Amino acid sequence: MCGDCQWLAKIADLVHHNITNSMFKKQTKRFIGAEGNRSDSDDGSYVAFVERAVANESVFRRFRCDKVYRETLEHASFEDGLACLDIIKRKAPQFLASIGEVRDNDLVGAPLVYDYAGCGVLGPTTLRYLKVAADLFWLFGETPGRRIVEIGVGYGGQLLVSDRLFAIDVYELIDLPPVLELAARYLESHVLNCGYQTSTLNRKTGEDTYDLAISNYAFSELPGHIQRKYIEKILISSKRGYLTMNSGLGKTDRSRGKLSLDDLRNALPPFEVLPEEPLTGPENYIIVWGHQSA
Ligand SMILES: C[S@@+](CC[C@H](N)C(=O)[O-])C[C@H]1O[C@@H](n2cnc3c(N)ncnc32)[C@H](O)[C@@H]1O
Repeated sequence: MCGDCQWLAKIADLVHHNITNSMFKKQTKRFIGAEGNRSDSDDGSYVAFVERAVANESVFRRFRCDKVYRETLEHASFEDGLACLDIIKRKAPQFLASIGEVRDNDLVGAPLVYDYAGCGVLGPTTLRYLKVAADLFWLFGETPGRRIVEIGVGYGGQLLVSDRLFAIDVYELIDLPPVLELAARYLESHVLNCGYQTSTLNRKTGEDTYDLAISNYAFSELPGHIQRKYIEKILISSKRGYLTMNSGLGKTDRSRGKLSLDDLRNALPPFEVLPEEPLTGPENYIIVWGHQSA
């Protein structure tokens, strides 16, 4: 294609994206859980957008820079990315040698990316996933788990980044049905080393066991009775755990209706509380169990 044609094709793509977006702007809200059974993100707009991203190729191609989507995910700033990079350098500097493979996570969905001195162009959200991987290495060693389960997975970015760094047999994704469709659409755009499975809380029987359970800003956003069900069916069956929490301390509105840290102490395997680094919310902390210093 000549330079002028490429330029025209880009404008046509942008116009098509904007027309499609405005056609759907007045779309009614879509919830998965009935009232009382919804997480903070099951707010009507998020699921409606996710369904559009699954159904419409041009929305999918740019889903990570959409305003509605960025309210729930992909809102890390350049500075957040920089702070994550500092932690990665401290906890798992060897991961920087794999930055080329990790960059795969910025190929699909048109995320906002920045030039980070010394490691090139990357999305700050990808750096956040890499920071979680650095924490996993630091806490659990070079193989954090052959059998991993993640609760509340977004589009599957944590899986893709972990797949590039760790030996994993099976990575199970648990989320709302349309979100799992988006994650599968996203992951199928790539080639994975591990195998993945998708499920919902209601499809789990509580019989499966895991080496590692992960949940970042997701388990902590669920109402208390659903958190208890996740503990009963999944978390107590995992040898190791890593949960980035944004509720439970009673400091902000986010804690309303969620399990408190004391409730969690009584229900989860014995755990340690670590500070979230970088701190991204007033009520944030990390719950870890099964780690090397435990
Ligand atoms: C704030 S996002 C965090 C996503 C991802 N962990 C990350 O760090 O980018 C919250 C996630 O929880 C998911 N979620 C909402 N309700 C859920 C439920 N009932 N069970 C599991 N996941 C749920 C959302 O779809 C979303 O993927």
